[in-house]
Amino acid sequence: MNDCCHFQDQGGIFIGDNVLIGHNTVLATIDHDLDPQSRQNHYAPIHIGNNVWIGASVVITKGVSIGENAVIAAGAVVTKDVPANTVVGGVPAKIIRQLPVLQMEVVSPQPEGRRLLY
Ligand SMILES: CC(C)(COP(=O)(O)OP(=O)(O)OC[C@H]1O[C@@H](n2cnc3c(N)ncnc32)[C@H](O)[C@@H]1OP(=O)(O)O)[C@@H](O)C(=O)NCCC(=O)NCCS
Repeated sequence: MNDCCHFQDQGGIFIGDNVLIGHNTVLATIDHDLDPQSRQNHYAPIHIGNNVWIGASVVITKGVSIGENAVIAAGAVVTKDVPANTVVGGVPAKIIRQLPVLQMEVVSPQPEGRRLLY
C-alpha cells in the first residue's frame, strides 16, 4: 500500500492477498442520504479480491466488490462491482480491457508440498 490512502472502514473492508494499492486511494464504505434534511449514514462493505492492482488516486464507494486480478486505472471512481480479470478506468469506472485468465500456482509451505490452483 502506498502513501496517503484513506480507508473509511465502518462498513467493513476486506482485502485479499497480493493486492497493490496506489497513492491517495480512498475506500469509502459510507454514503449519506441525498435529501439535505436527512444526511443519515448508509454503510456497506468493500471487497477487494486477490491480486488486484489499484492505481493512484482511485475512489471506491460503498458496497463495491472487485474481482480477482482486476486492475483499477489511475483516477478511477469505482461505483459498481468490477469483474475478475478486467481493467477498469474513468469516472464512473467502466471496463477498458479484458485480461487473459491466468491459472496462478501457489506452492504450499506444508511439508507434503500440497499445491493449490486458484
Ligand atoms: C490502466 C493502465 C494500467 C493501462 O492499462 P492498459 O490496458 O495498458 O491501457 P492502455 O494504455 O492500452 O489504454 C487503453 C484505454 O484505456 C484508457 N486509459 C488508460 N489509462 C486510463 C486511466 N487512468 N483512466 C481512464 N482511461 C484510461 C486509454 O486512454 C485507452 O483508451 P482508448 O482505447 O479510448 O484510447 C494505466 O493507464 C494506469 O492507470 N496505471 C496506473 C498507474 C499508477 O497509478 N501507478 C501508481 C503506482 S500503483
